[in-house]
Amino acid sequence: MFEKITTFSFPTRIIFGVGATRQVPGCLEENGAHRPLVVTDPGLRAAPPFKAVVSALQGGGVHYEVFDGVHPNPVEEDVVKAAETYRSAGCDSVIGLGGGSAIDVAKATVVMAREEGTLADFEAQAGGMDRLKGPYDPIIAIPTTAGTGTEVGRSSVITSQKLRRKIIIFSPWLMPRRAILDPELTVSLPPSLTAATGMDAFTHCLESLTCPVYHPICDAIAIHGLELIIRYLERATRNGQDIEARGNMLVAASMGAIAFQKDLGATHSLAHPLSTEFGLHHGLANALCLPAVMRFNLDAAAPHYARLARLYRDSNSKETESREAAAAVQLVEGMIERLGIQRGLRNHGVPREVLEGLSKSAFADSCHKTNIRACTQDDLLRLYQESW
Ligand SMILES: [Fe+2]
Repeated sequence: MFEKITTFSFPTRIIFGVGATRQVPGCLEENGAHRPLVVTDPGLRAAPPFKAVVSALQGGGVHYEVFDGVHPNPVEEDVVKAAETYRSAGCDSVIGLGGGSAIDVAKATVVMAREEGTLADFEAQAGGMDRLKGPYDPIIAIPTTAGTGTEVGRSSVITSQKLRRKIIIFSPWLMPRRAILDPELTVSLPPSLTAATGMDAFTHCLESLTCPVYHPICDAIAIHGLELIIRYLERATRNGQDIEARGNMLVAASMGAIAFQKDLGATHSLAHPLSTEFGLHHGLANALCLPAVMRFNLDAAAPHYARLARLYRDSNSKETESREAAAAVQLVEGMIERLGIQRGLRNHGVPREVLEGLSKSAFADSCHKTNIRACTQDDLLRLYQESW
């Protein structure tokens, strides 16, 4: 027992609460930074979250530069352009403001502002070998969605148009120095995106909980993350102004990403090619594939799913574990329906004849390697067919 040495670490300082954005100048100061590049997308530039950050920076007398060219599924060119702006403006830090895309571009920007070469030169290698030689300039992350949790994560996912695939750079040097979680910055997120991003956070919690890696601390975080999402995601989707629901979802999304330092599972392997090849929102892609993966995992994950069912029912049922586990799949499907997510890949522009090709890409993706039940490429194809 316990012969394998394990490391547990939770290093990002999180500042949470309504108006937390006002603490941006202090966060920069504490990290010795004075000239940040705000990295965001064009839609946010005209929206209240950007104004909130800018007014905090101006209030603190901070001179800043802005790069607002981040694409929804960010591409390497976004990073190249942001790094050019960073260097030419003499910046010494980044503020990633937005969903996962803007924050991931911000993370990659501090690396590429200093390094020669392309992102692929720094891609995570088998065995998790870190090719980044940090430390790099400070990263402050301010999420405007409650989903990816990249504000507390060690990776940045950027699409290389040249290589036609996603490049994942992964290193402790990519951990933001501060994550600012301000519920007010998420109130204008529309219901469909609230639901989709929330389902990404839910999938992170559930896949990390079931992933067979020893990490009881992450397991506890994942379980409470699931509890918060079950309680608050539908509320946040129905009423975007519900600050209690928005705040709890922001925390739950960070918890999901903290938990998945354990790793993820087959749902994420199925979801990734749906985004690269069909542009599906990542959280939506997870929501569409998760029930089929849960059925596939049912026996192997029964104790976890039984626990999940009890979180929904908020009671200690007398049912057997296997009946509770089966009930969990229906409870998750019911939640997805109430969130207004239309089931079926066929209803989201994915033709049936591409499933075989997609299953090759899904099998090449590493997430399923830590799924609680081993998957072959045929299994992944069947899971796509079931989700179609
Ligand atoms: Fe995800």
